Amino acid sequence: MIVVANNGVQENIMAQLFEFTDIKSLTLRNRFIRSATWEGMADDCGACTPQLTDFFCTLARGEVGLIITGHAYVNKAGQARPLQLGAHKDSLLPELEKMVQSVHDNGGKIALQLSHAGCYAATEITGLDVYAPSSGEHETGQIIREMTHEEIRQVVVDFSESAARAQKAGFDAVQIHAAHGYLLSQFLSPTYNKRKDEYGGDLKNRARILLEVVTSVRQAVGAEYPILIKINSEDFEEGGFTKEEMLQVAISLEKAGVDAMELSGGTRNSGRNIPFRLGRLDNEEDEVYYREAAKLYKEKISVPLILVGGFRSYSVAEMLVTERLTDYVSLSRPLVREPDLIQRWKAGDKRKATCISCNLCYKPALEGKGIRCVVEDALKSKQI
Ligand SMILES: Cc1cc2nc3c(=O)[nH]c(=O)nc-3n(C[C@H](O)[C@H](O)[C@H](O)COP(=O)(O)O)c2cc1C
Repeated sequence: MIVVANNGVQENIMAQLFEFTDIKSLTLRNRFIRSATWEGMADDCGACTPQLTDFFCTLARGEVGLIITGHAYVNKAGQARPLQLGAHKDSLLPELEKMVQSVHDNGGKIALQLSHAGCYAATEITGLDVYAPSSGEHETGQIIREMTHEEIRQVVVDFSESAARAQKAGFDAVQIHAAHGYLLSQFLSPTYNKRKDEYGGDLKNRARILLEVVTSVRQAVGAEYPILIKINSEDFEEGGFTKEEMLQVAISLEKAGVDAMELSGGTRNSGRNIPFRLGRLDNEEDEVYYREAAKLYKEKISVPLILVGGFRSYSVAEMLVTERLTDYVSLSRPLVREPDLIQRWKAGDKRKATCISCNLCYKPALEGKGIRCVVEDALKSKQI
């Protein structure tokens, strides 16, 4: 898009952020993506609800280029949160189809994020064993069982069947969640993965299940369907997955035909470097948590990069895209507070996002009401 400035000089400032781009069969109307964010709005069986559909339609009307759903579990044992969306059975299809159609009717594009929580599965909800690459015990006393070969094979199948379901429901893409210390990220990490077989040990072995998932998903969805992946730039854990390893895995994923990679970072055990870091981002220099990793990625990898984490200012998004440090700008919490943020920026109001990164949006979701910005609610009701 070319905009005409007041002084009559043509500027193409907005050109790159608001140009149309393609990721395979997926055409995006701008370079802003809603990063996967657990909504806590599905029903107890993992089915999409009218509340969740409305939530996504609001984002679509807010002109986000691509909405990525919160993580949807590929089998019941992989459920991490209450009222989480499921992708694990055909009976979920009718509600998913209706939701996708509504998002499309509102001008949006939507990808389904596929996930398995591994050792962070919510056994109190699933009633099933907790399994992971290696055995262990949570601080809660919860025992974690090492996965058998049969379970590894089954998880690979579950990812591909869920991807096929997403495609059937009309989703524009799928995203494989291999970040944040969930199952596929646990396999990548030497702190979670102590296996002695072909799925543990060196990086090639630790990345094996992920590449099997990608290959199997590709077989299920065909050559033209976009497969995205979310991966940690690093774990920020003692002995965890490193930036150098991320680069090696990204090279393998590129060869395996992944269509875009979203770089994030951290796990539940990363202290202040958890994926959704706490703390206001008052200075532009503090924004964007994984700048350095993005630079390394762009030097080596040609698959489009989606960068998430700590974007708050339009000017920062613009700078990173024009300097080619990223291809897409992905946002989570800012869009909880302002689902129309992208529309606002496009209309010329370039003030930074009002999100203060307090993570209080989790609270109503944990209470069964779905994520929302309680700071905004309080402001509206003039309590603060
Ligand atoms: C309430 C909440 C739920 C989240 N759920 C997911 C999820 O389902 N899948 C995922 O990959 N990341 C999830 N994240 C992480 C975000 O996608 C994002 O990586 C992180 O919040 C940093 O981006 P931000 O600074 O724009 O919020 C979640 C974050 C929050 C705050």
